[in-house]
Amino acid sequence: MKKIHSILLTGVLVLTLFSCHNSNANNNENNNPKNKVNMKFEKVALPYATDALEPVISKQTVELHYGKHHQAYVDNLNKLVVGTKFENSDLETVVKESDGAIFNNAGQVLNHNLYFTSFKQGGSSVPKGALGDAINAQYGSFEKFQEEFNAAGASVFGSGWVWLAKDGSGKLSIEKESNAGNPITKGLTPILGFDVWEHSYYLDYQNRRADHLKELWKIIDWDVVSARY
Ligand SMILES: [Fe+2]
Repeated sequence: MKKIHSILLTGVLVLTLFSCHNSNANNNENNNPKNKVNMKFEKVALPYATDALEPVISKQTVELHYGKHHQAYVDNLNKLVVGTKFENSDLETVVKESDGAIFNNAGQVLNHNLYFTSFKQGGSSVPKGALGDAINAQYGSFEKFQEEFNAAGASVFGSGWVWLAKDGSGKLSIEKESNAGNPITKGLTPILGFDVWEHSYYLDYQNRRADHLKELWKIIDWDVVSARY
């Protein structure tokens, strides 16, 4: 009897020690920044089917642009912020305050979240409400604004974006940005951005960026875009 008791006690002791060791090992793993998987930043859900923007943007381009390029920016950002001061920041703060690889990926996550939510199947013809009024007041007409915006987008050298933005007083401006640039870094609010990276149009338009920009107006969701003004 004494022998059985002693065997049982030894068993309990071994189990307790094993359990403590394992628990410490798990804690150490979780505390190591390299082992953390931060899924804080996410790409926006696509508010339409991947073929909904055809023929302006093909299903194949949406699948690659949203499914691969945008996903890569999100995955990169989530890895890069681990162990940095941006780990618990919101996306806009990261874009405003970071530089280097973190800025490039954060900027592109913000840019593409805005971009992919600016469209809908069939589009809507003109900007509404206060935004429509402001465009007419500043540019003379919607058509004149479109011409200026298209010309700015066509003349971005290399990869980048063209943005319609507003300042604190509601004054509009057209902003050309390189690479991952967003007017938010100048204290402006982005309203509408056209992606002029080749990945956004090359499969459908090859080198004809200007033609692509002209076509994009056919799929703008002005309800969403006007609400950003
Ligand atoms: Fe893009």
